[in-house]
Amino acid sequence: MILKIGVIGTGAIGQDHTRRINRVLAGARVTALNDVNRANAETCQRDHAPEARIFDDAHALIKDADVDAILVCSWGQTHEDYVLAAIAAGKPCFCEKPLATTAEGAKRIVEAEQAAGRRLVQVGFMRRYDPGYVALKKAVAGVTGAPLMVHAAHRNPRVGENYLTPMAIHDTLIHEIDVLRWLLDDDYVSARVFFPRKSPRAHENLRDPQVVVLETAGGVVIDVEVFVNCHYGYDIQCEIVGEDGIARLPEPMGIQTRSGAVLGQPILMDWKDRFIDSYDYELADFLKAAAQGTAAGPTAWDGYVAAVTADACVAAQDAAGEAVAIDLPARPALYA
Ligand code: NAI
Repeated sequence: MILKIGVIGTGAIGQDHTRRINRVLAGARVTALNDVNRANAETCQRDHAPEARIFDDAHALIKDADVDAILVCSWGQTHEDYVLAAIAAGKPCFCEKPLATTAEGAKRIVEAEQAAGRRLVQVGFMRRYDPGYVALKKAVAGVTGAPLMVHAAHRNPRVGENYLTPMAIHDTLIHEIDVLRWLLDDDYVSARVFFPRKSPRAHENLRDPQVVVLETAGGVVIDVEVFVNCHYGYDIQCEIVGEDGIARLPEPMGIQTRSGAVLGQPILMDWKDRFIDSYDYELADFLKAAAQGTAAGPTAWDGYVAAVTADACVAAQDAAGEAVAIDLPARPALYA
């Protein structure tokens, strides 16, 4: 059986996922496209899905009999509405991060999915599918012993003028928030944010860099440097310090050179290249589960926890180094 997919939001990632489904992965075809900017849907149809129908109304696409599962790839503030509609239609739904732009919105999705009685939502936290992070998780289980500390960094070469200080949390740190919780299999209890001297490359309305310190229920202390004007590259670092040893996220593959008395290795500049394979793996996982009428991978609960944690981190940005508590309700049985 070929799974029929409807894609809502056919900008950068929506087009790339359409290409992935139709040209890279097996078992599914994109049969329906929607975008508030119809020209983007037409470009996507022309380049990646000539047989797909273009819908002017995303809700009609969700309900259409020729659509078995939904990809939500529109702007963040529109996700909640579409994910809730997909759940109401009983159709598996892959939602790009964020699941919702507020914790309350994410909670409404968790409640709707619980009422549906089965998993229907996968959130696009693709780092869990990155072979480097998967190997790191194995090392935590086998080599490092119980984790004590995590040192991480998320560095981008530069950001535009519209990137403001809270976006360092909601758009950038959000990936660490999810993947570190998954690596440690632990929940956060507090967040603190420290601002070192500001980089002269950061624009007027952005405090950059910043250091976010998260503490987990199990007592692990995590420091994440977020530095989005580091200039030199897109650089993701993660080191777990455990009772018995240390494990580091591997560097992306690159040719090592010896020349002019320098031992060198290139550093990526574009975030799209860093986790390129993990996008294939996450969607393959979604398609496999969706063919069974359910969802796999990062859950709506994970999306909710990420939203609650991000809100606490943003509050901590204005708390002058004081800890902001992260309070979570008990995890519902559906997500055990
Ligand atoms: P984009 O701006 O390139 O594309 C978004 C598209 O959604 C646009 O074509 C826009 O016209 C359309 N759109 C906006 N509102 C809509 C609505 N109500 N209904 C239907 N279409 C609508 O943005 P991009 O980069 O593709 O990002 C989309 C989402 O994917 C964002 O939530 C972003 O955070 C997420 N994303 C996740 C990544 C990851 O690493 N997991 C990487 C890039 C994006």
